[in-house]
Amino acid sequence: MDTNEAVSQEMQPEPESESESESSQATLEPVVPAAASDEPVIKIRNLSKIYRDFWGRPKVQALNSLSLDIHKGEVFGLLGPNGSGKTTTMKLLLGLLFPSGGEISILGETATNVEKNERIGYLPEESYLYKFLNAVETLDFYGRLFNMSKSVRRERVEYYIEMVGLSHAKHRQLKEYSKGMTRRIGVAQALINDPDLVLLDEPTTGLDPLGTRDMKDLILKLRAEGKTVVMCSHLLADVQDVCDRIAILYEGELKQLGRVEDLLTEQGRTQLMTSKLDDSVVAEVKELLERHGASVESVDHPTSTLEELFLRTVEESRERPGRRFVPEDAAASEAVSKVSESE
Ligand SMILES: Nc1ncnc2c1ncn2[C@@H]1O[C@H](COP(=O)(O)OP(=O)(O)O)[C@@H](O)[C@H]1O
Ligand SMILES: [Mg+2]
Repeated sequence: MDTNEAVSQEMQPEPESESESESSQATLEPVVPAAASDEPVIKIRNLSKIYRDFWGRPKVQALNSLSLDIHKGEVFGLLGPNGSGKTTTMKLLLGLLFPSGGEISILGETATNVEKNERIGYLPEESYLYKFLNAVETLDFYGRLFNMSKSVRRERVEYYIEMVGLSHAKHRQLKEYSKGMTRRIGVAQALINDPDLVLLDEPTTGLDPLGTRDMKDLILKLRAEGKTVVMCSHLLADVQDVCDRIAILYEGELKQLGRVEDLLTEQGRTQLMTSKLDDSVVAEVKELLERHGASVESVDHPTSTLEELFLRTVEESRERPGRRFVPEDAAASEAVSKVSESE
């Protein structure tokens, strides 16, 4: 079977011209607009996994009767503390593990049919990459595993290196890469077959806030290309920012499932945000609200998140290099020393 079938249909409008010739123009622009439909890409029913010890005795119940659907075009987050069964779920989806019970349908196939993995991209918790290859060689190697033609490989390698922001380092050996760069090349590797479904296991773990922001942007880009993304994480803010729906697992059991806004919105309370108000106006507003039977719980100034402050600081530092923040007491002592110098 042509391992590249699903991809070549989408990426090469004229299949008859598919050859090594230069005229074959693979278009890498998104063809499918982002649209979440109801067709489940993944259907999990009563899935259980018991890890057994050497003698076959049950050791750990990693998953207990998990049921959920993941739809086409959505970014789905599997959340849970360490050991809650996230990685186990991903491995079961890929058919790398056999379930102890239950069923999985994924891209219309059973999970144990590994042929469907040609349409899936997988970023494992730890990527195992050849340290002595550079980024181009690494991706070219994986492209060969998918039997891609030379011209398609060349184009995809460039496209995904650019997409994950590694163009500046594409000829450096991976042993010189930082953790963040290694994670990026791992993502590019997961995407090289232009998969319909992308499974990302802890994509932001170990990244600094800038790397995390880039990774989140990348995930949103994948969604804009019409791909379905399943990511798992124990970092709550990352999941909140990019996921359409989430599931919370705890000790192998599903505890919450739904749209992020729905799970987080408190329907029973109202929040008003206004421009700065004088105390007298606040008192008047309070009086009005109390007349309507509402209780005012708090009146204060909104705060931004530490992530926003961090990203803003880095951005400003790039725009205005050389500007330093001098703490007040340091400024005072600087002034004193200047005065005593001039005396
Ligand atoms: N190969 C294994 N053998 C035995 N137990 C395992 C194995 N892999 C994972 N587990 C156990 O299964 C549970 C779920 O693990 P995992 O799916 O890796 O969780 P998560 O990815 O959410 O951190 C944990 O208790 C873990 O120790
Ligand atoms: Mg894990």
